[in-house]
Parts: sequence; structure tokens; C-alpha cells
Amino acid sequence: MSSDRTPLIAGNWKMHKSIAEAEEFIAALLPRVSDAEGVEVGICPPFLALQAMVHSTRGSRVQVFAQTMHQADHGAFTGEVAASMLTEIDVHGVILGHSERRELFGETDRALALKVPAALAAGLTPILCVGETEDERERGDTQRKLRHQVQEDLARLPDDRLGDVVIAYEPIWAIGTGQVATPEQAQEAIAFVRALVADRSREQAGRVRVLYGGSVKPDNAAELLALPDVDGALVGGASLDAASFAAIVAAAR
Ligand code: PGA
Repeated sequence: MSSDRTPLIAGNWKMHKSIAEAEEFIAALLPRVSDAEGVEVGICPPFLALQAMVHSTRGSRVQVFAQTMHQADHGAFTGEVAASMLTEIDVHGVILGHSERRELFGETDRALALKVPAALAAGLTPILCVGETEDERERGDTQRKLRHQVQEDLARLPDDRLGDVVIAYEPIWAIGTGQVATPEQAQEAIAFVRALVADRSREQAGRVRVLYGGSVKPDNAAELLALPDVDGALVGGASLDAASFAAIVAAAR
């Protein structure tokens, strides 16, 4: 981690936790992270628990993120949620382009190119997810995939806003598999993502936070978070338990 960038540890709950379970979690988490100076902590609950979590985290260091949003401000898009609806209830940010959204729900780079600026325009912090499949890594296509996703998804963002985006490098083969990237793999890919931002603005590349995601656990977090270009973690499974999520936050200090 670089001392110039505040690390972010964000927990992506995916489709887990009712409102009651979310309240139980946050009551257990807040005392455990109250002294996490210098670390930003985020939770990403399902839509229906967002408002309750905004309420329950008020005055704490924990920020609340949605897991997806639509690019339009309103319209005939059944089932979708707009950025302005998230900011109305004081949601802090939004995950965009998670590989599950891309693979299972047809999220495209074209839509993401609109979603990233729409999120920022509404005042949300986007966490843009990128990453290669196992096949792509074996074929030697990791950098090509990352270049494509970073360039396309940030194409409509002015250079001077690049540093306001958080990018999460999540190798798809590491998500939910227990097969974490090696420190060398994580550092190499994340330095490459930062270099892609530097192609547009050196200054913004120094600001942009790039997280690692994929089977981050309390016992591997410290090693990953110590890497020079890794500015935090996007945590799935291990974020569902308050004690294990707090242990990952502690590893970022
Ligand atoms: P995992 O998920 O930590 O369970 O691998 C990470 C993610 O999907 O963001």
C-alpha cells in the first residue's frame, strides 16, 4: 500500500443477508472497526438492506455501497435502480461491472462506460471491477483483457476524474474458489491497471485506488495488502462474518 492513498476494505455481500441479519452484522462490526484509523471500510448489502445500513452506520467510519445500478436517471427499466435513488438515501458508492453481473446478467462494457460517469455525476464512488478468466490467464491474455475493460469502461470519463474511481482487480478464477492470486500475480496485474490509468494521466494514476478481490481471507490479507500497488480489498465470502471482515480491516492498518 502507498501512504498517499487511503486503503479501502469493502465487503461485497452479494445476495446474502436479510435486513435483520444485516443489523446483527453491523452491531457486531462497528465496535471491531472503531479504531481502524487510516482505513476506509465499506459494506455492499443487497438493495433492500441499504437504507437500514445507512441508518445504522451513521456517524461511524463504515460506508455503504450498492452492488449495481442503471445508467439512466429514470425511465422504463423494470427492476432497475438509478444513481439518484441511491444518493437520496445517502448511499456512498456502488460496485459496477462485478464479474457476476457481467457473466450472469449480461452487463456490458458499453453500459459500464455510461454507468461510471453517471455514478460520479450523482456523487457516488464507483468500484469498477475488472479481471480475467482462468482460460484468458492460461492463454496469456490477462493484460489484453484488463486493457480492454479499463479502456472501455472509463472511456467517457474526463481524465481529471479518473482518480475518483476505485478499480477492483478480481481474477475470476479466484472469486469464491479459495484459490487466491499469488502476491506476484496480484501486484503485476494491479500495477498494470495503474499503468493503464497513467496512459491517460500520470497524476490521476497516483490517486486512483486499485483493490484486489478474489478469496481474500483473514490469513492472506496482510500479505496482499502489503503489496506496493494494492490499495485495499473487495471481499466476498469472508465479509459475511463480522469477526473475519474486521480481521481483514485490521490487516490494512
Ligand atoms: P470472494 O468474492 O472473496 O468470495 O472470492 C470476491 C468478490 O466477488 O468480490
